[in-house]
Amino acid sequence: MKTILITGGAGFIGSHVVRLMVNKYPEYHIFNLDKLTYAGNLVNLKDIENMPNYTFVKGDIVDSDFVLKLFEEKKFEGVIHLAAESHVDRSISNPTEFVFTNVIGTVNLLNAARSIWANNPGGKLFYHISTDEVYGSLGSEGIFTESTAYDPHSPYSASKASSDHFVRAYHDTFGLPTLISNCSNNYGSYQFPEKLIPLFINNIKHNKPLPVYGKGENIRDWLWVEDHARAIDTIFHNGKTGQTYNIGGHNEWTNIDLIKLMCSIMDRKLKRETGTSGKLITYVKDRAGHDLRYAIDSSKLQLELGWKPSLQFEEGLEKTIDWYLENQEWLDNVTSGDYQKYYEEMYDGR
Ligand code: NAD
Ligand code: TYD
Repeated sequence: MKTILITGGAGFIGSHVVRLMVNKYPEYHIFNLDKLTYAGNLVNLKDIENMPNYTFVKGDIVDSDFVLKLFEEKKFEGVIHLAAESHVDRSISNPTEFVFTNVIGTVNLLNAARSIWANNPGGKLFYHISTDEVYGSLGSEGIFTESTAYDPHSPYSASKASSDHFVRAYHDTFGLPTLISNCSNNYGSYQFPEKLIPLFINNIKHNKPLPVYGKGENIRDWLWVEDHARAIDTIFHNGKTGQTYNIGGHNEWTNIDLIKLMCSIMDRKLKRETGTSGKLITYVKDRAGHDLRYAIDSSKLQLELGWKPSLQFEEGLEKTIDWYLENQEWLDNVTSGDYQKYYEEMYDGR
């Protein structure tokens, strides 16, 4: 049986990747290493927690001794590294945490993999999950390819860019078998409701203001999280070592158009008069250093490895809204306690 380490498996994307790998590959033993920060929630994995090929390990990737010991004990043959501090707004309020987890945590994992694979790197793989935000911000023209120069603007994207550079450096310097993918904005079930889509679904439901940063003209390229998980599976198994793959769905939306679409779907689902939810839209102070536009060219992944997105955005958004409406208990659970404090600090007086 192959032992695979997935880090950050209790988070949004990680939980979808763990579920897919545990169900699809009974011949792998999947270890999910997660610190369970505010963003990590084991309820996300309730359906697979008792599977014989799955083990959860609570731990912090910033703790180098712990990480090395775990690698020595479990002799991982593959790593899919998703653990990260992932929210741009939090990186503006507290950048240092992003350096610890995203940079030092990644280097600790690379060191541990290097140490146990040193004499026998054959068949091993360290796969690092990154973001399109490392490429910076586009104007109205252009698209990010794998050779676009890095130009991060937020502390979050700077920390992810740094971790990507370390992964490539360990490949080039030490011959560590690595892979990187950079994906666009994800949406879907189990996303912590501080990110745009789940936050606004929750606010619309509770008739709370929808805080649109600036004029709502920023553009994001949205991909359904389960399509990202499938892309990760494809790249993990068929990607060429040392390479980078961009992942995205050619699905650009201005924030305001997306928000208006969400409002109209929510009016219909909640049986409200057309236009009711739209009245909650409130323009607030823009995010500092707010990237204008992201758009990703995923043709390398599509042409070389045969992956393509499975869902049209409108269909995916409907499914996502249905999921949050049907899982109010999950939302209530994650939005209690510390979340309230975070929300007040982030939006009061904005
Ligand atoms: P998330 O914030 O939902 O989950 C992150 C997980 O990492 C949580 O379970 C958290 O508990 C865990 N974690 C955080 N710090 C840790 C530490 N020090 N040690 C161990 N575990 C720790 O994030 P997400 O949206 O699922 O993103 C996962 C990865 O995908 C990240 O690397 C992110 O940069 C990347 N990514 C995200 C998106 C997106 O749209 N969400 C897009 C592209 C790439
Ligand atoms: P977000 O979900 O935080 O993802 P990212 O910053 O990684 O792209 O935000 C998506 C877009 O929505 C981004 O342009 C910022 C904007 N936004 C708002 O206008 N209001 C909000 O309350 C949030 C959380 C985001």
